[in-house]
Amino acid sequence: MRFVLAKGRLFGPSLEYLRKAGLQLSPPGGRELVSADGKVFLARAFDVPVYVEHGIDVGIAGSDVVEERGSDVLVPLELPFGKCRMSVAMPKERVIEPGEMDGFRIATKYPRIARSYFESLGVDVEIIKLNGSVELSVVTGIADAIVDIVETGSTLRANGLVEVEKIMDVSALLLVNRIAQKVRFEEINDLVKRLRRVRDGS
Ligand code: PRP
Repeated sequence: MRFVLAKGRLFGPSLEYLRKAGLQLSPPGGRELVSADGKVFLARAFDVPVYVEHGIDVGIAGSDVVEERGSDVLVPLELPFGKCRMSVAMPKERVIEPGEMDGFRIATKYPRIARSYFESLGVDVEIIKLNGSVELSVVTGIADAIVDIVETGSTLRANGLVEVEKIMDVSALLLVNRIAQKVRFEEINDLVKRLRRVRDGS
């Protein structure tokens, strides 16, 4: 079975969780993207669902990126880590409800989620797509508010921003390729069972 894991904050918890479930994976080291046995791959978090959709058997990614990518993958299990939320945030001196943000410029790494959220409110905004450090957009004045992940809240605080509204809860998810679920049925079901047992502590 081939696994794709996300670089960054989910990497350590993903590996630890898989190990607890009895999977002794040897991940790539240093700048390598492929493990020595050719079974574990490291991808950017946003690309993990894309790798799984297009042929890698199993992956672990946040529900934020799965939703944003709209990837056609199976999600048999929500995992007990990577918990955070997606929120609208803005400078603490001028807090405005999202329903009142008509004409606002919204900076985000999640244009699809942000667009659909504001559409659901019937609010017309301009979305500015950035690739990271989104808080800088409001600090510099190129945007009025951001849609981003909040975990501890320390990045918002450090940049004088406050959370205005939560859009969704976020969690790590187990992703399975549709074809792999058929051709590796037993192996994948066994994996899901083991991971569920660790999650449920049974
Ligand atoms: C994420 C997110 C926030 C921060 C939130 O960024 O985009 O900036 O973490 O975490 P906190 O609430 O615990 O401060 P990440 O560190 O993944 O980097 P990026 O902004 O470059 O994408």
